[in-house]
Amino acid sequence: MDPKSDAAAVLDVLKWPTAQKFVDRCAEFFATVQDLTPGKDLEARLNSDFGPGTPFYDDFCKYIKQGLQEGWVAETEISGPNYRRGKIALPSAETRYFSITTVYMNAQDEGSDFKGQYHKHPYGEINCVVQIDETAELMGMQGWQGAGWTSPGPGTHHYPQARGGALVALFFLPAGRISYDADPGMKQPLSV
Ligand SMILES: [Fe+2]
Repeated sequence: MDPKSDAAAVLDVLKWPTAQKFVDRCAEFFATVQDLTPGKDLEARLNSDFGPGTPFYDDFCKYIKQGLQEGWVAETEISGPNYRRGKIALPSAETRYFSITTVYMNAQDEGSDFKGQYHKHPYGEINCVVQIDETAELMGMQGWQGAGWTSPGPGTHHYPQARGGALVALFFLPAGRISYDADPGMKQPLSV
């Protein structure tokens, strides 16, 4: 697959009743975060107010795990079965103009991490870490994150990077914006 592309078919949620319920649940979440700006402060707030054991987080994990079983989560291979993507919803009024995407990463080898396609977030990202293996972690701008959230700020760029097993990065992008025209040598913004 083209490394500068985020190609993946958009899911037809009408064919997946659980996916429709999941999108409805996401819409309730978006109503609570739509006025907040991605970044370090939002990441801390998401982890304190919406972390493991809270209704949104627990529902998102339940739906994503069910979706993996049913086949509507991260169904498009990017490079083999251990790195897959799925677009569940494009921005719309229903989703407060967030997109909903899932990326499955399986960092299998002990002691090594997995890096995906380098990319940039013009408007930032809200990223829910759904652990499939309870040791799995995702790299955020503030470091490794297990069960919980990361939220890279506007203009930041990074690798999708996982270690310690399999996880699903469930991420919400304001206006659906993501850019693959980025490389690790670029400067980060003042606030990440
Ligand atoms: Fe990202």
